[in-house]
Amino acid sequence: MSDHHHDHGGEDSSFGDLLDLDGDVLHEYWADALSFVRRAAGGDRRRRIVDLGAGTGTGTLRLAHRFAGAEIIAVDADAALLHRVRTKALDQGLADRITTVHADLDETWPVPGPVDLTWASLSLHHLADPDRVLRDVHAATRDGGLIAVAEFPVQIRFLPDEAGSGLETRLLEGLEQHQAERLPELGTDWPARLAAAGFTLVDERTFDIDLSPAPPATAAYAAIWFGRMARHVDDLDPADASALEELLDGDGPGSLHRRDDLRVRGTRTVMLARR
Ligand SMILES: C[S@@+](CC[C@H](N)C(=O)[O-])C[C@H]1O[C@@H](n2cnc3c(N)ncnc32)[C@H](O)[C@@H]1O
Repeated sequence: MSDHHHDHGGEDSSFGDLLDLDGDVLHEYWADALSFVRRAAGGDRRRRIVDLGAGTGTGTLRLAHRFAGAEIIAVDADAALLHRVRTKALDQGLADRITTVHADLDETWPVPGPVDLTWASLSLHHLADPDRVLRDVHAATRDGGLIAVAEFPVQIRFLPDEAGSGLETRLLEGLEQHQAERLPELGTDWPARLAAAGFTLVDERTFDIDLSPAPPATAAYAAIWFGRMARHVDDLDPADASALEELLDGDGPGSLHRRDDLRVRGTRTVMLARR
């Protein structure tokens, strides 16, 4: 997807893999976040649930498991990602309750109401006009219905401090610059924007992630992540560039896959608001 609002950083399948690995490596966060949403939503009263910018469906599938009997509508602009959602829905016997909607949210709001719950994980900051979309979500939401917005206050990190985190810090600074141009909505005041759309903030929780030792899938996650950062940062000094090359050298002795000191650190925030 070349449109600047869909910042996938490439046409390959690595973005989908990255999202799948996020659900895998951070499965504890995902479970906790969905428990938080489920408690606030009062369990099974929620019948129609939208996963806004569903990606490969980590949220969609978890919502279907958590809200027995509910219909989950996964909306995304990327057909290949939605294909993964449908495959998982079939594999897990949930195809009768999961619908995928291929739509560009910058163009139109694609889900007729009433909606009981909307889950928007790491997707609002990709939109050209999130305020318009939030107003559309509000209009489609039943009175008393909820929206849950998950965003990240800080970027995820993988290297331990003593081993090259200076490199990681410099890569993240480069990524931040790149994102400041391409994703101007990133890191904005979502509670204020939810309020402006007519929602009332009911709760907010910060989930601190610190996985050490890192789960087995971490090296694959970190390899895609560092590869993407490498593409976005073009002014690395030669020492950093060769250290990065070593990390990304598939079978090499210094590669991410060979390291036993990876550690996953990050923060996700989930904001809950009611109509
Ligand atoms: C960072 S991913 C998050 C995916 C998923 N919610 C998760 O947390 O794993 C952002 C998603 O938003 C989707 N997206 C971005 N802009 C969009 C738009 N204008 N309309 C619909 N989907 C969009 C992307 O295709 C991508 O799947």
